Amino acid sequence: MRVAMIGTGYVGLVSGACFADFGHDVTCVDKDPSKIERLERGEIPIFEPGLDDLVAANVRDGRLSFALDGAEAIRAADAVFIAVGTPSRRGDGHADLSYVHAAAEEIAGLIEGFTVIVTKSTVPVGTGDDIEAIIRARRPDADFAVVSNPEFLREGAAIEDFKRPDRIVVGAEDERAQAVMREIYRPLNLNETPILFTGRRTSELIKYAANAFLAMKITFINEMADLCEKVGADVQQVARGIGLDNRIGSKFLHAGPGYGGSCFPKDTIALVRTAVDAGSPVRLIETTVEVNDARKKAMASRVSEALDGELAGKTVALLGLTFKPNTDDMRDAPSLDVAPALIAMGATVQAFDPEGMTEAAHLLPGVVFKDGPYDAVEGADVVVILTEWDQFRALDLNRVKRLLRQPVMVDLRNVYRPEDMRARGFRYASIGRG
Ligand SMILES: NC(=O)c1ccc[n+]([C@@H]2O[C@H](COP(=O)([O-])OP(=O)(O)OC[C@H]3O[C@@H](n4cnc5c(N)ncnc54)[C@H](O)[C@@H]3O)[C@@H](O)[C@H]2O)c1
Repeated sequence: MRVAMIGTGYVGLVSGACFADFGHDVTCVDKDPSKIERLERGEIPIFEPGLDDLVAANVRDGRLSFALDGAEAIRAADAVFIAVGTPSRRGDGHADLSYVHAAAEEIAGLIEGFTVIVTKSTVPVGTGDDIEAIIRARRPDADFAVVSNPEFLREGAAIEDFKRPDRIVVGAEDERAQAVMREIYRPLNLNETPILFTGRRTSELIKYAANAFLAMKITFINEMADLCEKVGADVQQVARGIGLDNRIGSKFLHAGPGYGGSCFPKDTIALVRTAVDAGSPVRLIETTVEVNDARKKAMASRVSEALDGELAGKTVALLGLTFKPNTDDMRDAPSLDVAPALIAMGATVQAFDPEGMTEAAHLLPGVVFKDGPYDAVEGADVVVILTEWDQFRALDLNRVKRLLRQPVMVDLRNVYRPEDMRARGFRYASIGRG
């Protein structure tokens, strides 16, 4: 199949590279010239494990190319995927569809022969109808179908998730479009990945329902963690105790500083707005959003409490800035709430993140960036683990203790064991462990 991928970000580049690896002929298009230049030089503009090798191999084999101008690729395509951003719209939290609509306009002028337009971006219910109307208005006689195919990959494990997904969801009423989508995903038949065909609107909603459910699950265990602290229970054992029940499942039950990232915060708010507009509010998700926002804001006070309420004039070492490990993505990361709050309380913040510091430098004015975890810890009054990168799971704790002014750790990801840390002489605070 000939595939044009419009938008070469975290989703577009991974999807494009994986489709090429499936054997399709893929052009990844982006309007950002610096991205395309870097890709053409063989550089990967984002950090995603394994993506450099996958891109290089498929470029070498002639199945993957990049373009600033998508005209040629779109004309030739059997399927044009839209994988542009759908951030929160300023002011009201609705998904900002301006990039999607602009992409639809561009595509409309170019398609030739039967073409399937596939929305991979996360878009509110009814967006497929908008895209169809935009294209139909410009090209009344064009032969095309608009399909929804939401993406469920996780940054940091994106290639594995794309190639071995739990399921593929395709919202397509048109039979020819269904056949094209089956063909595109055919290699996944080999490992018997279920393809769920639904109506387009249903498919659009499935994506929001999935993200909202997971965000709610994280928020649930975070509230249990707070309760554990009050009643002397251990949230990790609670999570295991409930997670072994198949009806509940063990994933997304790790208590922490609140969810962040490029999807959950914006998608939960967008779902809330859609539901209000439809006259069917989703109260559980409204509450999830509120509880999570408050939680991220409250994390700085935990650091202050670990220093007996005296943050002014103190130095805080922050380990981890990205919203989770194995990505450079800083969008809505808890660090964006925690670091400014610490600074506002009078602390000096020195931070290290293995991949996020280039992006963080624009977003966290006033933070001093260090070259490694031990540099960040040196001379600090407290070390805070904010993102559970592997290298922070295996710190040389004796060295950390020597470098700190006082042995205090606030572990917002429960990486270490309280009894071990106390035995080593640390004042140690974590989440939801008695
Ligand atoms: N990041 C994730 O983990 C993830 C997972 C599942 C779904 N999604 C969804 O996928 C979509 C894309 O997310 P992302 O994280 O890849 O975004 P991103 O910001 O990393 O990438 C979007 C890219 O689209 C480009 N673009 C915008 N308009 C364009 C146009 N008209 N023509 C060509 N290129 C254009 C931008 O320059 C940018 O490079 C969003 O709707 C998001 O919600 C993201």
